[in-house]
Amino acid sequence: MFGLGKHNLPEDVFQGACDIHCHLLPGVDDGFATAEKSLHALQVLEAKGVKKMVLTPHFMKDYPDNDSTSIMAKFEAFKMEAAKVSQIELHLAAEYMLDARFMKHFKQGFLTLDKGGNHVLCETSYMMYEHGITEMIYEVMCAEFQPVIAHPERYEYASKDNYFRWKDKHYEFQLNLLSLGGCYGGPAKAKALFLLKEGLYDYIGSDMHGLGNFERFLPEIKLGKKEIDALLRLKENNKKLFR
Ligand SMILES: [Fe+2]
Repeated sequence: MFGLGKHNLPEDVFQGACDIHCHLLPGVDDGFATAEKSLHALQVLEAKGVKKMVLTPHFMKDYPDNDSTSIMAKFEAFKMEAAKVSQIELHLAAEYMLDARFMKHFKQGFLTLDKGGNHVLCETSYMMYEHGITEMIYEVMCAEFQPVIAHPERYEYASKDNYFRWKDKHYEFQLNLLSLGGCYGGPAKAKALFLLKEGLYDYIGSDMHGLGNFERFLPEIKLGKKEIDALLRLKENNKKLFR
């Protein structure tokens, strides 16, 4: 199917896909601003073959009103609207910043990626790995939660040593697809290619905040056959969260 060299993503790459990271729930963070825009995106993604989306609004100090109770109510309202225009199956989780609020969310009950499961999508600051993060993750892992580190390639402070250490601690990694198209700059793209080649990713997500970047950077993704095969394996791993 593929020769040597770099290739665009296959036409059917989204067929049957489950996106486990997106900011499609409107008006709750820096993602989609209006329901109208979210519903349009759902229709675009459905036409590409996407079957399921996990909505993962930011839970962090910038959005202090976001907690499980408030977000669940907004999700249920949005889901009813979405069902009128799209067959995509929607599920609610969250993207938890590893900050002072993280343990509060843990005590209140995490919204997990896998409904009723134990996978928790976590992010750190892009600039620094703050004091106490390792200990917080350890505590939630002792309670049988599985941390899934969102877009590790985007953390400017993270070295290759960091990545291997995190994998030694059994953290799972989620790749942002658009990192491979340069959406977050050259260093993030280089790290994404490194992590992909090393087989360190477990899942893939769009981390979509709007359709603009998705449509702009998707065509910029050019990969060799091995990297495309690796992406397709991540796509299958995503589905395993829902079996
Ligand atoms: Fe995100």
